[in-house]
Amino acid sequence: MTALTDTLNDAQRRAVEVPGGPLMILAGPGSGKTRVITHRIAYLVQERGVPPWRILAVTFTNKAAREMRDRIEALLGDRASSLTMGTFHAICARLLRREGEAIGLTRDFVIYDTDDQMSLVRTIEAELDIDQKRFTPRSILSAISSAKNERRGAAAYAGGADNYFEEIVGRVYERYEAALRRSGAVDFDDLLGRTLELFETHPEIQQQYAERYLFTLVDEFQDTNLVQYQLARALSSAHHNLTVVGDPDQSIYSWRAADVRNLLDFERDFPGATTVLLEQNYRSTGHILRVAHAVIAKADGRPEKSLWTTNPDGERVVEYEATYGEEEALFIAGEVNRLLRGARYRTSDIAIMYRTNAQSRAIEEAFIAQGVRYRIVGGTRFYDRREVRDLIAYLRIVHNEYDTVAFDRIVNIPTRGIGAKSVGDLVSASADLGISILAV
Ligand SMILES: Nc1ncnc2c1ncn2[C@@H]1O[C@H](COP(=O)(O)OP(=O)(O)O)[C@@H](O)[C@H]1O
Ligand SMILES: [Mg+2]
Repeated sequence: MTALTDTLNDAQRRAVEVPGGPLMILAGPGSGKTRVITHRIAYLVQERGVPPWRILAVTFTNKAAREMRDRIEALLGDRASSLTMGTFHAICARLLRREGEAIGLTRDFVIYDTDDQMSLVRTIEAELDIDQKRFTPRSILSAISSAKNERRGAAAYAGGADNYFEEIVGRVYERYEAALRRSGAVDFDDLLGRTLELFETHPEIQQQYAERYLFTLVDEFQDTNLVQYQLARALSSAHHNLTVVGDPDQSIYSWRAADVRNLLDFERDFPGATTVLLEQNYRSTGHILRVAHAVIAKADGRPEKSLWTTNPDGERVVEYEATYGEEEALFIAGEVNRLLRGARYRTSDIAIMYRTNAQSRAIEEAFIAQGVRYRIVGGTRFYDRREVRDLIAYLRIVHNEYDTVAFDRIVNIPTRGIGAKSVGDLVSASADLGISILAV
């Protein structure tokens, strides 16, 4: 036993020390899944002599990537800096900047975010005279995104449409793709889809990356969608050392085509895979674990696994059923005040979670009325602030005169009195003539 694995329980240590091949680590929250990934990476480098640049670690959010890098740095020091680590999107973006020319992307391609996509779809709907109240840009984009995550291109989608909504989506989708290509741009889903396309049309490029990455590790694998699953397989296709870590009970992204089946099908797709279950929980009290188990045990199609802990039972879980939102808010504010009065807890010890942002209003009102101080986590991110986005749009136009979405954003900032009709005419003239908007 080495110092590195000293701090692991038996199941964790087994997972960390698996020599190679497909490996699936299945566990509940707080059982040390991320700890196993970070220790496995450190173990591979330190004990097995794997060069850090030959390891690829994928996380689900940028925040998780930073956290993982910090945790590995603590174990490996400077050697951690040459690991490839990031979200699927970040890793694919980097790969496409380097190799995208093979599929017609320039090195400095623009990545459209949600706002850019919305504005593009709005313009297309206006061009096609589609009623945007009935077919909201959001619903169309969401259909396009799902199609991309299932790898259905615009032509296939339009051809296979079997109701009116899909027909509308198909028409917008085709123009949307054409506009992206004209602007030399990709959207978030394309980062993944076009990387797969690159691999399929240029097997030698896939081979080069698959050869490079001796080990591929994916955290939060339950949240990967079909395209991400295929990417993970492609990137580990030379050495078959794919480690996935996930919790089938925890898939929070099913609304965006994440497919928990990936996790459940892993054993079928990777014959000979090693499976390790982590069942000891370090984060929660006994009572909380038992309540969570009682709820989740009712879900269909989940592999049977149960968590245990050596933590104390702790306080009992209280369930309170309110009849309407305001009553719920009053109850919460009352409980918070009760806890604070005891002088044992401060406001920073208390968290309120809700399912949708709209629910915060009633709770905030109750807090204001009862003088409870609170802070909303989340809110508008820096890059979503209007002035920041306007400035970026100007920079994009300077960088790429064909960027119609950026043009659309800034044409009237500051106000220039150019109407939507004129903008539409300019954009279509630019597309028809094949010259930039500024040239029109
Ligand atoms: N073997 C262990 N000994 C002590 N603490 C542990 C052990 N395994 C995990 N933990 C602690 O449990 C918590 C959850 O670990 P983490 O890896 O984030 O779990 P998960 O990714 O499964 O949610 C962390 O604080 C971690 O340090
Ligand atoms: Mg984790």
